[in-house]
Amino acid sequence: MTSPRQMKLGAFFHPTGHHVAAWLHPEAQIDAGTNFRHYAQMTQAAERAKFDLVFLADAAATRAGNIKALRRWPQYMAYFEPTTLLSGLAALTERIGLVATATTSFNDPYSIARRYASLDHISGGRAGWNVVTSSNQAEPFNFSQEKLLPHAQRYARAREFVEVAKGLWDSWEDDAFLRDREQALYFDPEKLHALNHQGEYFAVRGPLNVARPPQGYPVLVQAGASDTGRDFAAEVAEIVFTAQTELEGARAFYADMKGRMAKFGRPPEALKIMPGLNPIIGRTEEEAREKHAYLQSLIHPDVGRELLSPELGGIDLSNVPVDEPLPERLIDDSVEASKSTFQRVADMARKEKLTVRQMYERYGGARGQRTVIGTPVQIADQMEEWFRTGAVDGFLIQPAVLPSGLDEFAATVVPELQRRGLFRTEYEGRTLRENLGLPRPAGRYAQG
Ligand SMILES: Cc1cc2nc3c(=O)[nH]c(=O)nc-3n(C[C@H](O)[C@H](O)[C@H](O)COP(=O)(O)O)c2cc1C
Repeated sequence: MTSPRQMKLGAFFHPTGHHVAAWLHPEAQIDAGTNFRHYAQMTQAAERAKFDLVFLADAAATRAGNIKALRRWPQYMAYFEPTTLLSGLAALTERIGLVATATTSFNDPYSIARRYASLDHISGGRAGWNVVTSSNQAEPFNFSQEKLLPHAQRYARAREFVEVAKGLWDSWEDDAFLRDREQALYFDPEKLHALNHQGEYFAVRGPLNVARPPQGYPVLVQAGASDTGRDFAAEVAEIVFTAQTELEGARAFYADMKGRMAKFGRPPEALKIMPGLNPIIGRTEEEAREKHAYLQSLIHPDVGRELLSPELGGIDLSNVPVDEPLPERLIDDSVEASKSTFQRVADMARKEKLTVRQMYERYGGARGQRTVIGTPVQIADQMEEWFRTGAVDGFLIQPAVLPSGLDEFAATVVPELQRRGLFRTEYEGRTLRENLGLPRPAGRYAQG
C-alpha cells in the first residue's frame, strides 16, 4: 500500500508573534527578540509536534518610517541574525528543519555558501535557505550604497548568486576526505574543484573551505511573487513561501508555479508550495472570534495609520481620525505604490466606506497573510480543503502570539490533522530533504 500524501508544516517565528500587536498581549514573550531560551523552547515544541521546519524571516535594516509609530511596534527592530540563532537551535534539536532568510542583494555568495554549509553540517543535514531579493529601501544604506538595484537586476543578481553558491557547495566531492592516517593523506586533490566563476555580478574562484553539505545543497526556499520572482522560484526553489488568502487564487498560483517548472526540466513534486496561515484557535468559534477581536483592539492607532500609509503611497496619515472614513482627498490614484495593494486599500475606503480603524484592522492584523479563526476542527477542515483541492502542499503556520499560539496549535490542530491521516506522527528521515521527500542533489563532478 502506498502511503497517502501528507501535508508539510513549517513553524514561522516572528519574535513575539505574527499579529502586529502581539507584543502587547499578556501571553507574548515580551523580550523575545533577544531571548534565546524562548526560541529554544518553541523549536523543541515544534519538533515534538513533528513540524517539518522552523522558518525565520530577515531584513538587513531596522524598519524605517514614522518613529512615533515605530516605537510602539518592535518587529524588525531588534532580533537575532537568523543563521546564528539556528546554529544554536541545531544543538538542541534532532530532526526539525532550520530555515533562515538571507538576502542576495547585500551578501556575497562565498560567505552565504560557507554559512549555510556550516549550518547544514552542524545540524546534521537540516538547513534551508530562504533566498530573497531585498525590496526594503532602508537596506542599501547599511552596505555603502544609496539605492536598491532595479527589480530585474535584483533577480538577475539573485540567479547568479544561487548558481555560484551551488558551485561552491560542489567544491568537494562527497568522498573527497580520505582522513587516512596510515598514508598521511587527509583529502584527495582530484576530488577538490575550484569554481572559477566569472559572471556579471560576481567573480569567485573557490573552492569553498567547508566540506560538501550533508544534504548536497541546503533546501532552497523562495518568496518572490512577481512574474520574474515566480520564474526564479520555478527554476531553483524547493519550497515556495507565498501569501494566499483565497482558495481560488491559491489554486491558480499553485497551478501556475507547478506549470512553470517544466521549462526548467523539473518535475512538479520537486517544489513544495506552502502559503502562510495565521490560526486563531478557540474551544468554540465564538471564543476564537473574541480572541481575535481582543488582538485587533490592541493595535495602537499610530501603528494602524503607519501600516496603511505605505500602501497608499507613503501619505501622512498621522493626524487622521481613526473612527471616521478616510477622506477622499487623501486617496491619490497616481501614487507610486504597489498597484494591487493600493487598490485593495483604496476600495475599502471608497466602496465599503470603512473607517480608518476598520481599514487597518482588516489589512494590518496579519499584513496580507491568511487568518483562519475557529475551533481546531474548523481550522483542520480549512487546511484539509486547501490541501485536497490542489491549492497547497503544506502551510507555514504563523502563530499570532508566541509562544502560546504555537503550543495551542501543536496541542489541538496537529492531533486533529494526524487523526485524519493528513500529517505525520513520526519523522520519515533525519534530514530536512528526507522529511520533505526531496532528493539529495548529486555533486556536479560525481562519477556515475
Ligand atoms: C511571503 C513573502 C515573504 C517574504 N519574506 C521576506 C523576508 O523575510 N525578507 C526579505 O528581505 N524579503 C522577503 N520577501 C520579499 C521578496 O524576497 C521580494 O523582495 C519581494 O517579494 C519583491 O519581489 P517580487 O516583486 O517578486 O514579489 C518576502 C516576500 C513574500 C511574498
